Amino acid sequence: MRWAQYVAVVLGAIGLENPLNGSSDSYPLGTPKSDAVDHVNPMIGNGGDSPNGSGGMIPSTAPPFAMTRWVAQTRQNFVSVTPYNLTDTKIHGFQGTHQPAIWMGESGQVVVAPGVGKVTPSFEERGIPFSHNDEVATASYYSVKMRPETGGVIHGEHASTSRVGHLRFTFTDVSSPHVVLQVTRNSIVSNNESRIQVNIGDVAILPDRQEITGRNPERQDDILGPFKAERFAGYFVARFSEPFESWGTATNDTLHEGETSRTDEQVMGYARFRQNTTTVDVRVGVSFISIEQARKNLDNEIPDGTSLEKTAYQTRQTWAEKLDRVQIEGATDDQKTIFYTGFYHTLQYPYEQDEDGQYYSGYDDKVHNGTSYTGYSIWDTFRAEWAWEILFVPERIPGMVTSMLQDYQEGGWLPMWKNIVETNIMVGTHVDSLIAEAMIKGVTGFDRELAYEAVYKDATVPPVNDTTTQYADREEGTGVEARAGLTLYAVTGYVGSDTHTEAGSRTLDYAFDDYAVAVVARETGHDDVADFLFDRSKSYQKIFNNDTGFMEARFSNGSWAGEDAGWTEGDKWAYTFDVIHDVDGLIALKGGKEPFVEFLDEHFNGGHNDQTNEPSHHIPYLYAMAGVPSKGQTLIRSIAFTDYNATVDGLAGNEDCGQMSAWYLFSALGFYPVNPSSLNYVVGSPFFENVTINLPGVSKPLVIRAPGASTKPYVKSLTVNGKPISEPILTHDQIANGGEIVFSMSDVPEEWGSFSPVAHEEL
Ligand SMILES: *[C@@H]1O[C@H](CO)[C@@H](O)[C@H](O)[C@H]1NC(C)=O
Ligand SMILES: *[C@@H]1O[C@H](CO)[C@@H](O)[C@H](O)[C@H]1NC(C)=O
Ligand SMILES: *[C@@H]1O[C@H](CO)[C@@H](O)[C@H](O)[C@H]1NC(C)=O
Ligand SMILES: *[C@@H]1O[C@H](CO)[C@@H](O)[C@H](O)[C@H]1NC(C)=O
Ligand SMILES: *[C@@H]1O[C@H](CO)[C@@H](O)[C@H](O)[C@H]1NC(C)=O
Ligand SMILES: *[C@@H]1O[C@H](CO)[C@@H](O)[C@H](O)[C@H]1NC(C)=O
Ligand SMILES: *[C@@H]1O[C@H](CO)[C@@H](O)[C@H](O)[C@H]1NC(C)=O
Ligand SMILES: *[C@@H]1O[C@H](CO)[C@@H](O)[C@H](O)[C@H]1NC(C)=O
Ligand SMILES: *[C@@H]1O[C@H](CO)[C@@H](O)[C@H](O)[C@H]1NC(C)=O
Ligand SMILES: *[C@@H]1O[C@H](CO)[C@@H](O)[C@H](O)[C@H]1NC(C)=O
Ligand SMILES: *[C@@H]1O[C@H](CO)[C@@H](O)[C@H](O)[C@H]1NC(C)=O
Repeated sequence: MRWAQYVAVVLGAIGLENPLNGSSDSYPLGTPKSDAVDHVNPMIGNGGDSPNGSGGMIPSTAPPFAMTRWVAQTRQNFVSVTPYNLTDTKIHGFQGTHQPAIWMGESGQVVVAPGVGKVTPSFEERGIPFSHNDEVATASYYSVKMRPETGGVIHGEHASTSRVGHLRFTFTDVSSPHVVLQVTRNSIVSNNESRIQVNIGDVAILPDRQEITGRNPERQDDILGPFKAERFAGYFVARFSEPFESWGTATNDTLHEGETSRTDEQVMGYARFRQNTTTVDVRVGVSFISIEQARKNLDNEIPDGTSLEKTAYQTRQTWAEKLDRVQIEGATDDQKTIFYTGFYHTLQYPYEQDEDGQYYSGYDDKVHNGTSYTGYSIWDTFRAEWAWEILFVPERIPGMVTSMLQDYQEGGWLPMWKNIVETNIMVGTHVDSLIAEAMIKGVTGFDRELAYEAVYKDATVPPVNDTTTQYADREEGTGVEARAGLTLYAVTGYVGSDTHTEAGSRTLDYAFDDYAVAVVARETGHDDVADFLFDRSKSYQKIFNNDTGFMEARFSNGSWAGEDAGWTEGDKWAYTFDVIHDVDGLIALKGGKEPFVEFLDEHFNGGHNDQTNEPSHHIPYLYAMAGVPSKGQTLIRSIAFTDYNATVDGLAGNEDCGQMSAWYLFSALGFYPVNPSSLNYVVGSPFFENVTINLPGVSKPLVIRAPGASTKPYVKSLTVNGKPISEPILTHDQIANGGEIVFSMSDVPEEWGSFSPVAHEEL
């Protein structure tokens, strides 16, 4: 059953009037019509029995790249805990969240919790039982029937714009309906229950305006990185459709009846509505700038008189505009669900941090004019997620790059993992690749010379106290991590395993990042620097241990550090393949194509490939680059069919801001950007018979045909606009300008693509 049909059935079953039908301002759910959006299942990625064994996704509503996502809150969300968990049985309110991924902290959130009877504001006591049978989750609209223990039903619904949540509560027990707004809570730092962060914020009740406002300074990640963002806060204005009959503030489980403002920890505000009030509509404008700005955001995005139906309609339209750009024939219903849900995931992060032409910067603690984004997981997303966004949301890329350059100007460095400010999570300065890729793929609208200056700094300036700080994962009290260990790397070509954590991964990552900076230098006319860094990008060779045939980190003195030391979310298997910018050079290190292919076989047959984590993502495509595309073709399909499915457990590893899905999406189309700082995509095995893609700003569609693809995994020949292609490479121009790509498929391994050397970028 499609989600829209499901909505109608569930609402009927609840026995409440279907609010989506009948009114003069009626925008029935399911409009605008979009088969693609109907295939989004936001529950995918919320299952799994451990934070790292699932997608870490939540069934939230919001438009693409929204500042705030709204979600039913079933538990307190901290680092490694999402606010919604399918195994929970109670809803404690509806949260406007800014937590961009399971491993990151929440910032400046607000929670809206309906109730009946006595006001019991504490998180524990306000939980209301619900069943998944009474729940509807779509990309643009969420609905749930909650059953208070005292009887009756509260029907909760929400839709949202980027900066405004639109909620509606319908009560069957109308004796004492009320709504609580939770402003601050005490949060757990770094997933350590004995480290409590006490957050003190403000709440105000404005009965005349039918508003409750608040300021929440919580930023769980404020222990990471050097930026304290002292003035950071999430502000909100919640405006209600119904007059308040009585009100107060609360601190955890204590009511301060009649009080209209309070500054405190665990502070909340509540309003009771007149007896017989059946429906309360509330719009919650949020801001990182001020209460006034939150109110402006509310009035701009969901003005008074807007129905929830209209908000849901508009949110759905924002998704339809994107997802309908890909039309698929020859996919099963489940495959479409995986595809479009993945597509929806790739357009969630980074998220907008600007409001009305201004943004709060945590780097210098000031408000600036301009566009800003946050929620970057660049170690993950530089691989394929960014390439996907360049193709499908080109209108966003100049703003995203400009935002990174503002981070550089305000904080001294480009972002690695920005969550309001830099958090130093993961390693490498792969932002260099984001900028290189944007430049070579022709993105304009950002300051190229400033971009060069910023990536050049990454390549040449070590972080503060580089020789005395490990820059370990989540190490506190450090500077911006950038390329920790660069001091030694610049001299020897490797990072010392005794002085820095993850030294093997850092060495390989810095070599690739050198390549990316060389690309930017070449693009901006700094040829000497390009030559120098292109040479230095061969540094990966410095940690290839020819005696073992594996990459291996070194100590500062040059001796080997042991095969298991120094890897980031991977092992010596994945990392020995981690030379995406010079695959020919890697093949040569391994003694040529034949031994390299044997090594790939050993990697896959030995169960060493781990699609649940990013370092493995490009590896199946290396078969094509080593001259045997057919071997990779079956593997790519088996990974896609094993590690992705249309159930709640359908992502075998964390979504990581879209990279897990970007792998699937590109693979399904039949190509993957192994080296994202190049114009090449490596050919795999298209899954579907016909795909038609209307890329934004491109006059003709890109049509990908692969007759028989559902049963035939092997590629026998390939043409682009009628011209035969003999190498397993498609270039950006062949994809990004539209046209026709035709694969001839086969059910037996074919020689195609194996006879000529792989094309590669000449710098
Ligand atoms: C959901 O909750 C269950 C039970 O507490 C837990 O095992 C699981 O790890 C949680 N899922 C996520 C993604 O955190
Ligand atoms: C997932 O986390 C658990 C507990 O933190 C750990 O034991 C396990 O090795 C992790 N699994 C992966 C694949 O990283
Ligand atoms: C948790 O925090 C407490 C208090 O700061 C500290 O003593 C303890 O070592 C921490 N535990 C872990 C596992 O880091
Ligand atoms: C908040 O109130 C709940 C419910 O009475 C109680 O269980 C909890 O301990 C309180 N928390 C704090 C931090 O006071
Ligand atoms: C609520 O409705 C009941 C039943 O119709 C009625 O008796 C009562 O007076 C109403 N209360 C208010 C405050 O309007
Ligand atoms: C794919 O397109 C071709 C040509 O238009 C058509 O004949 C074929 O039926 C389509 N395949 C599917 C599965 O719709
Ligand atoms: C920000 O923009 C406003 C309105 O366009 C303008 O009046 C103001 O001078 C700008 N401020 C800065 C610091 O550029
Ligand atoms: C760098 O090291 C010096 C000397 O130990 C210390 O005083 C300073 O705080 C450190 N700076 C940072 C940002 O870690
Ligand atoms: C590397 O090892 C291979 C196989 O063990 C050997 O043939 C080759 O000569 C070695 N190369 C170097 C530079 O030592
Ligand atoms: C190199 O450094 C490592 C780590 O400090 C040490 O264990 C090893 O003995 C050193 N090797 C030499 C040859 O000095
Ligand atoms: C879906 O994928 C997950 C993760 O790989 C797996 O655990 C689960 O068994 C799969 N479910 C189905 C129905 O294939």
